[in-house]
Amino acid sequence: SVDDLDTRTIVLVGLMGAGKSSIGRRLAAQLGLPFKDADHEIETASNLSVSEFFDIHGEAAFRDGERKVIARLLDEPRHVLATGGGAFMDPETRALIARKGCSIWLRAELDVIYKRCMKRNNRPLLKTGNPKTILKNLMDERYPVYAEADVTVDSGDGPHEIVVDKIIAAL
Ligand code: S3P
Repeated sequence: SVDDLDTRTIVLVGLMGAGKSSIGRRLAAQLGLPFKDADHEIETASNLSVSEFFDIHGEAAFRDGERKVIARLLDEPRHVLATGGGAFMDPETRALIARKGCSIWLRAELDVIYKRCMKRNNRPLLKTGNPKTILKNLMDERYPVYAEADVTVDSGDGPHEIVVDKIIAAL
């Protein structure tokens, strides 16, 4: 049913640098739920960093792995799940999240995203050109799709506690 959103796994979606992992960890602690990170699960299973995975196996293989990992996690007991920025763009993953999870889009402006990504530039998608241009293009392509999430929360430049409180209020 659609009225059981408050008992479902909370799935954080949004562009890289939106704060899905750090906000997700805090949110989970505050709700007393386990925290899981889809990228991290793929890294553990493959014994490769996401960046190495892209280099060795390519993006298509990464998307396959991501889809499988998220499908498996959505069958586990309720938790907070941070997904990689591309996960929600996959129609199959999106449908699965709609059926089994409660999706939260952490929306942020380009400047905030850019600043956060530059702190630790290990994102394979940003290595292929001008990072700001790539991020802008990804925003144009993805924001209309992220907007399909059950809840949208602005993840500004401020303290993560504020964003966590906003998510809890919206649940
Ligand atoms: C990706 C985002 C990354 C990671 C991979 C691809 C994307 O995750 O899954 O580099 O397509 O936006 P984060 O959003 O956690 O950086």
